[in-house]
Amino acid sequence: MSKRVLAFDVYGTLIDTHGVIAELETALGERAAAFSQRWRDKQLEYSFRRGLMGAYTPFSACTREALEFTDRALGTGLSEGQKDRLMATYGRLPAFPDVAEALQRFSGAGVTCVAFSNGTREAVDGLLSQAGLRDYFDDIISVDEIKRFKPDPAVYSHLRDRMESEAQDTWLISSNPFDVIGARHAGLHAAWVRRSAEAPFDAWGGEPDVTVTDLLALSERLG
Ligand code: 2OP
Repeated sequence: MSKRVLAFDVYGTLIDTHGVIAELETALGERAAAFSQRWRDKQLEYSFRRGLMGAYTPFSACTREALEFTDRALGTGLSEGQKDRLMATYGRLPAFPDVAEALQRFSGAGVTCVAFSNGTREAVDGLLSQAGLRDYFDDIISVDEIKRFKPDPAVYSHLRDRMESEAQDTWLISSNPFDVIGARHAGLHAAWVRRSAEAPFDAWGGEPDVTVTDLLALSERLG
């Protein structure tokens, strides 16, 4: 059995946060994609700000508050019912198409895989279960266990504590550059899943050890 631990980021890496676009389109038409992007960006900004302020709240609250903000900012006038339905959809977002097969490969190779997320254990468990992915993971490690958000070094340290793993054996797998840089800063290895050819990486160091276009390509490198 390999000592290597692969810790998969959830939102944006395993699960497509823009899976809300179809529902947004019924209400907003061609503004749906811009709304979805602004919502996601604001959700992350709120987690960063709350982390700096020491004002932790479950990630779902950041998501809801970001939805309210985006509605105000874009003047879209969503009703409370529409916002409630969008939040419910957020709990059953789809997985990216490469994920199940890649996880099967890692599992077949005896690699330890965990989900590692800003989302609470309950939220991540629900998402992975409805996407048929839960059984591929040995565990779910949530930042909620220490009430901090990525990329606080404490969350990467918590990951290692929970897995009882050495830094050189611990890999963060993420499509989010801030998460990759956070993990590298904390001494872990990191793979960047560059899901879009247009996605830029931040220009301040902390380069990923590996860059791949999807998780199947990652399984060729680390499986
Ligand atoms: C996650 O932790 C950052 O959204 C990302 O799942």
